[in-house]
Parts: sequence; C-alpha cells; structure tokens
Amino acid sequence: MKNVSRMLLYTLVPVLILSGTLIITAADETGTAYLPGVTVKDEHPNGCVDCHRLGSGGQDYRLNVSLTQVEKHPDITKIVKQLPGDCLMCHNEGSKSGSLNNIAHKYHYRNPGENHFVSSYQGACLNCHTLDPDSGEMKVKSGAKNW
Ligand code: HEC
Ligand code: HEC
Ligand code: HEC
Repeated sequence: MKNVSRMLLYTLVPVLILSGTLIITAADETGTAYLPGVTVKDEHPNGCVDCHRLGSGGQDYRLNVSLTQVEKHPDITKIVKQLPGDCLMCHNEGSKSGSLNNIAHKYHYRNPGENHFVSSYQGACLNCHTLDPDSGEMKVKSGAKNW
C-alpha cells in the first residue's frame, strides 16, 4: 500500500507540474481574444479576396479559379466584380444552387478538425464579418475581384 501511494506521488507530481505549465501557456496564448477589428488588427479587411488570392508560393486561391473545381459551376471570371455581393445573383436566399450564407459557413466550418480556416484563422467570424462594438452593427466585408 505504501509503495502504491509513493508510486502515485512520483507519477502525479510531474503530471501536476506539467499540467500547470500547460495551463499557464494556454492562458498566455489566449490572453487576448482573437476578434479581428475589435481586439486585434484586422488582417483581412476586404474579406474573401484577402485570403482567396495568389499565394506567395505560387498557389492560386482566387475564387474564380477554385470554383472551377465545383462540378458544373459557371465561369464567374466576367460575371462577378464585387465579392461576395455578386455571388448573390445566383446564391440568394432560397436559391436552388444554395444560399451564400450557407455556402460560406459550410466550407469554412465543415470537418473542423482538418479545416484550414479553423486551424489557421481561428475560425473567427470576424474574418468575414465586421462588428462595430459601439452600435453593435454587424456587416459582411466586401472587396473588388482580384483577377
Ligand atoms: C481569413 C481567410 C479567409 C477568408 C476571409 C475567406 N476564406 Fe474561404 N477559405 C479559407 C480557407 C483557409 C479555406 C480552405 C478550408 C479547408 O481547409 O477546407 C477556404 C475555402 C473556401 C472555399 C472552398 C474552395 C476552396 O478554395 O478551398 C470557398 C468556396 C470559399 N472559401 C469561399 C469564400 C468566400 C465566398 C469568402 C468571403 C465571404 C471567403 N471564402 C472568405 C480562408 C478564407
Ligand atoms: C451565374 C451564377 C453563379 C454565380 C455568379 C456564382 N455561382 Fe456558385 N453556383 C452556381 C450554380 C448553378 C451552382 C450549382 C452547380 C451544380 O451543382 O449544378 C453553384 C454552386 C456553388 C458551390 C457548391 C455548392 C455547395 O453547396 O457545395 C459553391 C461553393 C459556390 N457555388 C460558390 C460561389 C461563390 C463563392 C460565388 C461568388 C464568388 C458564386 N458561387 C457565384 C451558380 C453561380
Ligand atoms: C467565410 C466567411 C464567413 C465566416 C467565417 C462567417 N460568415 Fe456569416 N456570413 C457570411 C456570408 C457571405 C453571409 C451572407 C451575406 C449575404 O447574404 O449578404 C453570412 C451571413 C451571416 C448571417 C445572416 C444569416 C441570415 O440568415 O441572414 C449570420 C447571422 C452570420 N453570417 C453569422 C456568422 C457567425 C456567428 C459566424 C462565426 C461563427 C460567421 N457568420 C462566420 C460569411 C461568413
């Protein structure tokens, strides 16, 4: 019995110290809530086009290019000039091609364990929405096409 409690002591103490460290680290990292434009600088003030652009490594994340991966999607290169507002001409509420809000939310939150929007951008709503803390008003960010 004595041996058992000594064993517990030796295993528990390091575990407690370790978890203490983890808690302290987590508190440091999350000390500031990630609310772009409210508590931290907004790195994507124009919404969609600030992320869906030509990557520095040559990757092409522009939406007119990635939407060619959606089967039967019309080419939006000439049709869409303002994002995401112009997507609404085909994706308004009740549209059989899907509503823009459902499309936007689905693609950025599905498979949350693997979704890069969740892992790289903290899945923050304020990557796409703006929030005025004084009036409480929320809007959807907007930007001109980048192609
Ligand atoms: C802060 C960065 C960011 C913003 C802002 C953003 N996206 Fe994305 N988006 C991503 C990432 C990262 C993915 C890949 C998610 C995954 O791992 O499946 C993605 C995926 C997508 C996809 C699936 C096709 C693809 O390129 O992988 C569509 C469609 C899309 N986004 C549309 C939009 C639209 C429309 C807006 C604006 C309303 C928008 N996104 C705003 C980062 C962003
Ligand atoms: C000219 C009309 C048109 C425009 C403009 C348009 N779309 Fe679409 N979109 C469609 C159609 C039609 C489908 C359905 C394709 C099919 O399955 O037959 C679709 C499907 C999609 C899908 C797949 C739907 C799903 O539930 O997985 C995504 C994602 C999408 N559109 C994103 C966008 C975005 C983002 C924009 C603006 C940048 C946009 N679309 C602009 C017509 C359009
Ligand atoms: C990738 C961009 C993106 C992200 C991230 C995002 N939204 Fe949205 N959201 C949109 C777009 C685009 C619309 C549709 C705008 C339109 O229809 O004009 C929308 C619409 C909405 C609406 C209105 C829906 C309706 O029925 O009218 C609400 C509420 C909303 N979002 C809440 C959220 C919340 C809460 C989060 C975070 C958990 C979030 N959004 C994250 C892009 C985004």
